[in-house]
Amino acid sequence: MTRVLGIESSCDESAVSLVEGEGDRLHIVKNIVSSQIEVHKQYGGVIPEVAARQHVQVLAKLLEEQGIKREEVDVIAVTSGPGLVTALRVGIDTAKALAWAWEKPLVGVNHIEGHIYANWLRVHGTPEEVPQFPALCLVVSGGHTELLLMREYGKYERLGETLDDAVGEAFDKVAKLLGLPYPGGPAVAKAAESGDPRRYRFPRPMMKDETLDLSYSGLKTAVRIAAQKELTSPDALPSLAASFQAAALEPLIAKTERALGMYREVKSLLLAGGVSANTRLRAMMAETAGKYDVPLFIPDLALTGDNAAMIAAAGFFRAQEASKGAWQTLRATSNWQLGAHRRVV
Ligand code: KG4
Ligand code: ZN
Repeated sequence: MTRVLGIESSCDESAVSLVEGEGDRLHIVKNIVSSQIEVHKQYGGVIPEVAARQHVQVLAKLLEEQGIKREEVDVIAVTSGPGLVTALRVGIDTAKALAWAWEKPLVGVNHIEGHIYANWLRVHGTPEEVPQFPALCLVVSGGHTELLLMREYGKYERLGETLDDAVGEAFDKVAKLLGLPYPGGPAVAKAAESGDPRRYRFPRPMMKDETLDLSYSGLKTAVRIAAQKELTSPDALPSLAASFQAAALEPLIAKTERALGMYREVKSLLLAGGVSANTRLRAMMAETAGKYDVPLFIPDLALTGDNAAMIAAAGFFRAQEASKGAWQTLRATSNWQLGAHRRVV
């Protein structure tokens, strides 16, 4: 049994967690997330310096509150990128101090890899099934939108990615255009529930092209133009949100299906990242998985957003690489990309 302490501070969530595991079965022992949403709400988005200062105030407190002790930790895992560099540094420095004081090995974890490994966890208990390789992962977060082929633990090929904005970023920007509060994704999804997704015909850029790449900047512009014209009518907002949501999600599904058609050997389909909280996307992915007869893994709702359990889980599988001297050399890598991009056409 290996017990991993996870620490996350890459954006606007400070989080610590203790995960234990053996083989490929993991179990969350402790898990706490402290969100800075209320602080950043007043600015309409995350201010990196403010985020870093909040992490300083909160992280040590969380560790203390959870009563995490030296004896119950075998390895320390911390998000070391991608993310806001000032925010990342707070988590890294906390982890380094603990690794030094407790004489424990330390491993730097890629935040996106963490999101993927949320699929190896359940909020309660141990999952009955875990993903099998090769796995196709659709990563949808505030900063990333990509299709990854994972042939084994920690090995990724980037089959496709957004050429401009991430899908979560598009949700956040559209929320602003529609006058909805930060964070925008959940607010747009909520407004979309009572709207007509066919009322506005927004573009689905690159949906039909041969690549597995995506693009969201054109869609955002189209929504801005429509919103300027339509928002004077009180019933337009839900349908603008629903039409945007459909245009944002359909290309994700189209590219996932294209990838499943190309890589017949895929044994599991995974959804990961903050946008995986989206009910409509979860349902569409379930349909796709059914159509291609491939087992689908979606994180528990409470594990879709940023948390430290997912970082501990990724650290668990990287534990062999963890080293006792890592506290001296570990650095923040704010633009760390998972895997090499592999053009499929
Ligand atoms: O993965 P995440 O927590 O942070 C990053 O690593 O970037 O993702 C946050 C993103 C935000 O853009 C947020 O608006 C979006 O996920 N999001 C959603 C929903 N819940 C969160 N987008 C659409 N529908 C949702 N229900
Ligand atoms: Zn994230």
